[in-house]
Amino acid sequence: MAIDKVLIVEDESIVRSFLTEVLRRKNIEVTAVENGTKALAAIKNTTFDLVITDMKMPDITGIDVLRAIKEISPQTFVVVITGFGSIENAVEAMRCGAYHYLIKPFSPETIETVIEKAGEHLSLIEENHYLRQQVGSNNSSSGFKVIGESPVMLQILSEIDRIAKSNAAVFIHGESGTGKEVIAQAIHTQSMRASNPFIKVNCAAIPDTLIESEFFGHEKGSFTGASAKRTGRFELANHGTLLLDEVTEIPTLLQAKLLRAIQEQEFERVGGTRPVKVDVRLISTSNRNMKEAIAQKILREDLYYRLNVVPIYLPPLRERREDIIPLANFFLQKISGGPHKEHIKKLSAESQKKLLEYSWPGNARELANVIERAVVMDSSPLIAPDHLYIDQGPSNIAINPAPKLEFPIGTTLEELEKRFIIETLHVQHNNRTETAKMLGISPRTLRNKLNAYNIS
Ligand SMILES: Nc1ncnc2c1ncn2[C@@H]1O[C@H](COP(=O)(O)OP(=O)(O)OP(=O)(O)O)[C@@H](O)[C@H]1O
Ligand SMILES: [Mg+2]
Repeated sequence: MAIDKVLIVEDESIVRSFLTEVLRRKNIEVTAVENGTKALAAIKNTTFDLVITDMKMPDITGIDVLRAIKEISPQTFVVVITGFGSIENAVEAMRCGAYHYLIKPFSPETIETVIEKAGEHLSLIEENHYLRQQVGSNNSSSGFKVIGESPVMLQILSEIDRIAKSNAAVFIHGESGTGKEVIAQAIHTQSMRASNPFIKVNCAAIPDTLIESEFFGHEKGSFTGASAKRTGRFELANHGTLLLDEVTEIPTLLQAKLLRAIQEQEFERVGGTRPVKVDVRLISTSNRNMKEAIAQKILREDLYYRLNVVPIYLPPLRERREDIIPLANFFLQKISGGPHKEHIKKLSAESQKKLLEYSWPGNARELANVIERAVVMDSSPLIAPDHLYIDQGPSNIAINPAPKLEFPIGTTLEELEKRFIIETLHVQHNNRTETAKMLGISPRTLRNKLNAYNIS
């Protein structure tokens, strides 16, 4: 994140043009005004990343401008300019929340340094903000580890080492629940970018109308509801990795813009006029058949080739049975690893046999659910086969008997989805997390759908 928009408030025209010139050379969009009144008007209309204001002006002082900014747009950095003889003004300004001060006369380098520092500061704030959101919404990342003992997983794990070192775009193919996201996270964690952000976009969960701004960000006022400037995921992922989850769900219109952004590592925010440069490594995932998705024009072929430079195919769990027990033990540990660490349960020999014989249509995610339920149901240290709810396919994991659903021909897909969600909720006693898991979607997607269908 860099400082893009700056307001200069300075009554001396020489200083004003000097500052404007220095900033424009740094490709910054500059608005320059000669007094405090005009500054206040400008602040009300536009969100600036940074304001440089003189302290002594004919109408209102720099301190007043500073106070007004902190009121209207607290995140804007304010740098005050003061004469050598009035350092005490600078001290007061810092007390009122100024970011920095410049003492006249100052050199172009001094200004450049202040702008760069403010840019770094801004990145940290954004990143922190994002990370806090991530921690709030997803606590699974703390127990992050890739389990795999089957030959095919061992092969993938060794490839990850090599892939992680390059910057090439990776495409992870595989059925739902096979662990695509886990692999993506592993690639990021083992790469040179590990200390930079790992940003996920669940392309299926974002409404079409918002997806462009989610990707690229927007300027204040660029559309109804855009009340403040917003940083997109591409910019948040700068120097890090961007995971495009379920990439075929991106509306085709946006795919062209995405392709350009990837090719040029540059894009424009919604409502923006200047290009923003980024350095991002892309990982995409999909559980669809790509040939079909391209033939049906769901995914642009040229975009697919850009994203699929290094393909990884994660086979379904039923084709790598050696991973079933290690995964089951991993989930057992993870689930019982909380307050009762001393009580980590084990699978009886029969239970292991039962797990190995099942076909796991929902892959590792289904296995995780089955184990979680077993831990809840079974109070003994050894989990018995009866507590592994898998006999008649995934719909029977539920404690409630699942009703038989019938949909006559003529039912719309929308109606079908709605009723299916309602029934699954019912079976899961309105537990949304479990319902989302059972439906194989994220809780967020479920929430969006519940809102869309007016189900409360
Ligand atoms: N190899 C693995 N090691 C550890 N955990 C795994 C592994 N594979 C899957 N999991 C766990 O299984 C669950 C599902 O995995 P993940 O979300 O990565 O699947 P996915 O392929 O991205 O699914 P979807 O296509 O539905 O998004 C997660 O809880 C994940 O932590
Ligand atoms: Mg996923």
